[in-house]
Amino acid sequence: MTDDISAAQAGIVQIGDLTVNRLGLGTNRINDNDQSRQLLRRAVELGVNFIDTAHRYQGGASEATIGSTLAPYPDGLVVATKGGWQETLPSELRGQLEDSLRRLRTDCIDLYQLHRVNPDVPIEESVGMLKLFQEEGKIRHIGLSEVNVDQLQRAQKVTPIVSVQNEYNVMARQHETLLDYCTKQGIAFIPWFPLGGLAGAAEQVENKLSDMASNYDAAPQQLALAWLLKRSPIMLPIPGTLSTGHLEANLRSATITLSEDDYQRLTSMA
Ligand SMILES: NC(=O)c1ccc[n+]([C@@H]2O[C@H](COP(=O)([O-])OP(=O)(O)OC[C@H]3O[C@@H](n4cnc5c(N)ncnc54)[C@H](OP(=O)(O)O)[C@@H]3O)[C@@H](O)[C@H]2O)c1
Repeated sequence: MTDDISAAQAGIVQIGDLTVNRLGLGTNRINDNDQSRQLLRRAVELGVNFIDTAHRYQGGASEATIGSTLAPYPDGLVVATKGGWQETLPSELRGQLEDSLRRLRTDCIDLYQLHRVNPDVPIEESVGMLKLFQEEGKIRHIGLSEVNVDQLQRAQKVTPIVSVQNEYNVMARQHETLLDYCTKQGIAFIPWFPLGGLAGAAEQVENKLSDMASNYDAAPQQLALAWLLKRSPIMLPIPGTLSTGHLEANLRSATITLSEDDYQRLTSMA
């Protein structure tokens, strides 16, 4: 039985004036094929209403597949994308945004995130360009990815920032200060690699969590997500999967109630 599974069980979080369920979907491997389309439809069916993609994922096929499968988007479904990389000039962001709007089949992107800061360009200039897109009505909200507190604060002086997406999981904890800052400011924190990400790191999370997970009759990946959800009310994990079975398992993690002792043990594990 899978009918009792719902992303709503994770609670909700604000993305500016938008409210989403606190377990979303990462789509960097989504491509133009039936498996991806089925996965996207199943996610929406199970209450996932925050889908994260990017201009560069699968050469644009992630955005295009989301657009061709889910647009016109049901009310309340927030599709977030990202533009810009280390070498992208502010003037080049417009072309990427136009690509994303076309592929996602929309006139306005709910959440547009600066994917990477160009180290040769003051962040104020790139964020200033996103603010212009916002004034033009092409994006609703602005987020950042892979930033530190200083960069976030500089961007906040230009325009409101509603989300930050950085690498974060039970073992990768280099952004604790930033996470605490976002929690205080009510800025959604979207951890990428929520399950540990690449093979070696994911294996490490799996091995370290497997004993405790068996006490909860859960998989280590589910425990990793349960820990994230408990870590902060503004946490919005976006586990990436191509498997509907894994999607369902990930959503079920919202029903795991970690004991305070186990939460503390996981917190001090990294
Ligand atoms: N902002 C950035 O710079 C940045 C960087 C990287 C990623 N991201 C975003 O963050 C999202 C999440 O990151 P990620 O997908 O790279 O890493 P992740 O979510 O930590 O891990 C994904 C890996 O775990 C597997 N998996 C998923 N659910 C599972 C489960 N229940 N049990 C066992 N294995 C499971 C997936 O394979 P299966 O397909 O077999 O499930 C995949 O190999 C991405 O999709 C992307 O949207 C952003």
